[in-house]
Amino acid sequence: MALPNKNAIWRVLVTGGAGFVGSRLVRRIETEWPNAMVTVIDDFRSGDFHNLQGFRGDLIAQDLSQIELTRYFAPKSLDAIFHLASITDTREMDQRKMCWDNIESLRNLLRFAESARTPITYVSSAATYGIEARVNVETDDRKPANVYGYSKVQLENLAQLYLDKPDNAGWVVNAVRYFNVYGPHEQHKGPMASMIYQLYLQMKAGKRPRVFKHGEHKRDFVHVDDAVQCTLLAMDSGKAGVFNTGSGEACSFNDAIAELNKALGTKLEAEYIENPFPFFQPFTQADLTRSRVELKYDPAFRLASGVADYVAWLKRTGR
Ligand SMILES: NC(=O)c1ccc[n+]([C@@H]2O[C@H](COP(=O)([O-])OP(=O)(O)OC[C@H]3O[C@@H](n4cnc5c(N)ncnc54)[C@H](O)[C@@H]3O)[C@@H](O)[C@H]2O)c1
Repeated sequence: MALPNKNAIWRVLVTGGAGFVGSRLVRRIETEWPNAMVTVIDDFRSGDFHNLQGFRGDLIAQDLSQIELTRYFAPKSLDAIFHLASITDTREMDQRKMCWDNIESLRNLLRFAESARTPITYVSSAATYGIEARVNVETDDRKPANVYGYSKVQLENLAQLYLDKPDNAGWVVNAVRYFNVYGPHEQHKGPMASMIYQLYLQMKAGKRPRVFKHGEHKRDFVHVDDAVQCTLLAMDSGKAGVFNTGSGEACSFNDAIAELNKALGTKLEAEYIENPFPFFQPFTQADLTRSRVELKYDPAFRLASGVADYVAWLKRTGR
């Protein structure tokens, strides 16, 4: 669906809206579409009510994998569904829990949305690609190294199974595969917050930032506002499929520390420590060709401007 004009009454469901990216999306929708009617479903397993301060809409604090959606919504009562709710702790090793909660949540939405063909944009992850060091193209083999990534692969498979049904021709269900998102409102994630935030906390406290030897692992660090923009563009595009959502650049942890030093006005040198994890990703980078061409996605931030923007926000808000 094309996004409605800014004065429209837009009826939107955002799952995971109390989380890091979800709350940023909710804020953007309520700011740009003042007449939007946003409902958030979030059971606060990893979200935080602080993220929803100022939110005007309805909140359903329930587990999306269990909830009977027809108790809350008539079939045609929503114009768009953004699905971000997920177990996001990649250290979670309970395979049944990870798969059940993540997969059944999307199945619940698909079953509900199918009759009215309500468009769904849901969030997948670069974790679907696994740990091979290469620039990741959407058509690459998916080889997740952990059950979190595996659950996201299954989301993509499930969505495709629904889209393959002959009756569902034309229904728009698409995925945005986020890379390493950082930015405002991720504090509640604690150890699961971005490396940019972890390094910031150490450096703000005057400590040398600790990274695995020798700081040369690379990540596609993407600012949360770019992730939100790509998510809205995916909904706007009316195109089914899977779309990488990154900055398009691979930057090392040493690069991140250099940008944080600039933003903080410090000269702290990295402390390199042994890497105990055999499955630690050495390199991630999103190939953005498909997203640029089909979604017209053009990330606004590079690492330097993104870190500067984020640190300014952290300082302004006293965090
Ligand atoms: N932050 C990143 O770097 C990153 C990278 C790749 C993918 N993603 C994906 O982006 C989405 C948002 O992640 P985030 O970083 O904002 O994490 P987050 O933990 O802050 O947000 C997830 C939200 O979903 C809620 N939730 C989880 N399971 C639920 C359920 N069954 N029912 C209801 N609510 C539930 C949590 O309470 C939380 O508020 C997730 O789908 C995540 O897998 C994030």
